[in-house]
Amino acid sequence: MNTPRGAVARRVLLGISGGVAAYKACELTRLLVKAGHQVQVAMTEAATRFVGPVTLQALSGRAVALDIWQPLRASGMDHIDLVREADALVVAPASADLLARAACGMGDDLLATLLLARDAVPTLLAPAMNRAMWAHPAVQRNAARLRADGVRLAGPASGEQACGEVGEGRMLEPEALLWEIEALWQPQLLQGLRVLLTAGPTFEPWDAVRGLSNRSSGKMGWALARAAWEAGAEVVLVAGPSALAPPHGVRVVAVETALQMRQAVQDELSGARCDVFIAAAAVADWRPREVQPGKIKKEPGRAPQLPELEANPDILAEVAARGDAPFCVGFAAEAGDLLVNARAKRERKGVPLLVGNLGPQTFGRDDNACVLLDAQGERELPRMPKLDLARRLVQEIASRLPARQG
Ligand code: C5P
Repeated sequence: MNTPRGAVARRVLLGISGGVAAYKACELTRLLVKAGHQVQVAMTEAATRFVGPVTLQALSGRAVALDIWQPLRASGMDHIDLVREADALVVAPASADLLARAACGMGDDLLATLLLARDAVPTLLAPAMNRAMWAHPAVQRNAARLRADGVRLAGPASGEQACGEVGEGRMLEPEALLWEIEALWQPQLLQGLRVLLTAGPTFEPWDAVRGLSNRSSGKMGWALARAAWEAGAEVVLVAGPSALAPPHGVRVVAVETALQMRQAVQDELSGARCDVFIAAAAVADWRPREVQPGKIKKEPGRAPQLPELEANPDILAEVAARGDAPFCVGFAAEAGDLLVNARAKRERKGVPLLVGNLGPQTFGRDDNACVLLDAQGERELPRMPKLDLARRLVQEIASRLPARQG
């Protein structure tokens, strides 16, 4: 089955343990359902003191599993059946007590027994507690043991806490948890690699308030950053001005102009090893030679002189020409003659892989279609949601990388 965004719909068994962050589990349930997934909620008794099971029942459309002695399933064995039916087991929030019980393999309530019976079901825990509790050596030991047992821990984040303190211990926001959950099902094709991306438009100022830009929304580049992160890469996104929220798990370097983008890319390349460079940005080809101070005033009946332009550097071509060039992926946003233009562009820029698409049919949209061009030839990828396309592109990139040791 497909979700509204095209991705495969999955069954999520969502455990909720006792903590103030339980209220965020309501929003997480809503987001999972909106993304097309099925959600079966299981709550500890303590969790029901923070949010009512009826709320979760209404949001998930399913009765909430609460008590091992009052099973939902006819078999009477919810602790086995619910986890067998699931594509992922998630606990959000995971309290210090829940972490301790899971780390020790206890089975003293339904949620603990689900964690015991999880077998090969991908499992994610989202810790949430006061910062001093999270820093406690016993909690850290339990977290380390759970990681060693193959459980993915998401967060906690730093910030203001319900208790009024500030520090590490906040549960990740529901949107970030949705990403973490969907990442459980993605193959770790870029594990251990560092991916640098450019995305979005650039803005080239003409005066203090005006400038040159283009219609790029950043959606394709943002989706690629997410897909690379999901595949296990460390991702740095050099982002031109965009209304999109910073992608979870990705370090964002915000820039405005092409010259700033080029500088940021060069800094990243000289700062650390980079394995893949994806240039998804729609870099403005020209910039005003001079930026006028202040705001150019309107004069009745007279339009100002257009600024004199000069060419921006080609960031992708520069990176591809480096002796230590990472695997470079370029984009070509054309208005027509896609194949001819894209072929020429791949040659000119000296990149092993180029993704050609039609600008007017991708800018600002949530879906896209493209053609891949490499030394072997061309291959079309049909129109699909940008996140799905990004996941496909990550597969295509991973399959072209030099074989890795170990
Ligand atoms: O030449 P054109 O702008 O069509 O090339 C598109 C590809 O080159 C994209 O991958 C884009 O990110 C990259 N590019 C760049 N620096 C520029 C212009 C384009 O990195 N100044």
